[in-house]
Amino acid sequence: MSNILVVGACGQIGIELVMELRKLFGIKNVLASDIKEHCPPAIAEGEYVQLDIMDHNALAKIVNENNIKQVYLLAAMLSATAENKPLIAWDLNMQGLFNVLELAKHKKIDKVFWPSSIAVFGMNSPMNDTPQHTIMEPSTVYGISKLAGERWCEYYFKKYDVDVRSLRYPGLISYKSAPGGGTTDYAVDIFNKAVKEKKYTCYLNKDTKLPMMYMSDAIRATIEIMEASKEQIKVRSSYNLAGISLCPKDLFIEIKKKFKDFQIDYKPDFRQEIADTWPNSINDSAAKADWNWKNRIEIEEIVKKMISGFS
Ligand code: NAD
Ligand code: SER
Repeated sequence: MSNILVVGACGQIGIELVMELRKLFGIKNVLASDIKEHCPPAIAEGEYVQLDIMDHNALAKIVNENNIKQVYLLAAMLSATAENKPLIAWDLNMQGLFNVLELAKHKKIDKVFWPSSIAVFGMNSPMNDTPQHTIMEPSTVYGISKLAGERWCEYYFKKYDVDVRSLRYPGLISYKSAPGGGTTDYAVDIFNKAVKEKKYTCYLNKDTKLPMMYMSDAIRATIEIMEASKEQIKVRSSYNLAGISLCPKDLFIEIKKKFKDFQIDYKPDFRQEIADTWPNSINDSAAKADWNWKNRIEIEEIVKKMISGFS
């Protein structure tokens, strides 16, 4: 059984991914790591090690000492935070990836998962049902780093036979861990505020449609692409991954069915400009055809789960 390392394990995706990987492959086989000193209680039953992914030697030591064979690299700076710290974001998002790809190139690890994002698209990409292969001119630091990362993943696969697999995640909706500075974070905050305060001020306009997905579907997709055979993975940049397409007003209407007195107002900030360059919806027919991807959780169920999660 391969040992698995999750880097960036304390984040919105990391916590749930570690929990699921441990359920599937055993607590002893999944090592969680993050730059944070302390491990969150949700994943504290298993091994945790503090790791700055920028430190190549520390990463190599952990991989060697723990016989790590697969790395899930989640450490990154997300879109909204990255706009405020462009050069730091570029360094983290690129160097972290190179450190892992280089280990894989030298056959120290067998398989890598690295997530991309809908942020790789831009104003000149088709906004609806955005295809797998199309014009890609991201205008955010985050999107530029993700597109560059995708090109490097494909390069390492073609030149060095590095088995790296990637998904363009949509905005992810979850309650077990807080989102970490993205443009789509509103779709989590709105539930928290609905349950606790019955009102929410949204930083995106009510009609801003974006691709979104419930976390359990994203975790399932991540593990499914990693468990697929090498031959099934025909896209070595990153696969489009679609869940549902929704705007703040859609969530407001659904939440209001449960909380009649819920109120919302809209005060768009700099994140509106980012969201305006991203697709409304995504076409994921390549993922469906190549490794049988299928989204399961629709808006009604998301609302039910999120309200109950925050209550
Ligand atoms: P997050 O911000 O919630 O978590 C990132 C984690 O990385 C944090 O726990 C942070 O402490 C850690 N980290 C930061 N710098 C580090 C370093 N130098 N070394 C080690 N760890 C470090 O992010 P997330 O939402 O869990 O996203 C994980 C990945 O998925 C990122 O690559 C992100 O771009 C991608 N993604 C996320 C979403 C989403 O909606 N959450 C959507 C698309 C893509
Ligand atoms: N949810 C992410 C963000 O908003 C998309 O990659 O940054």
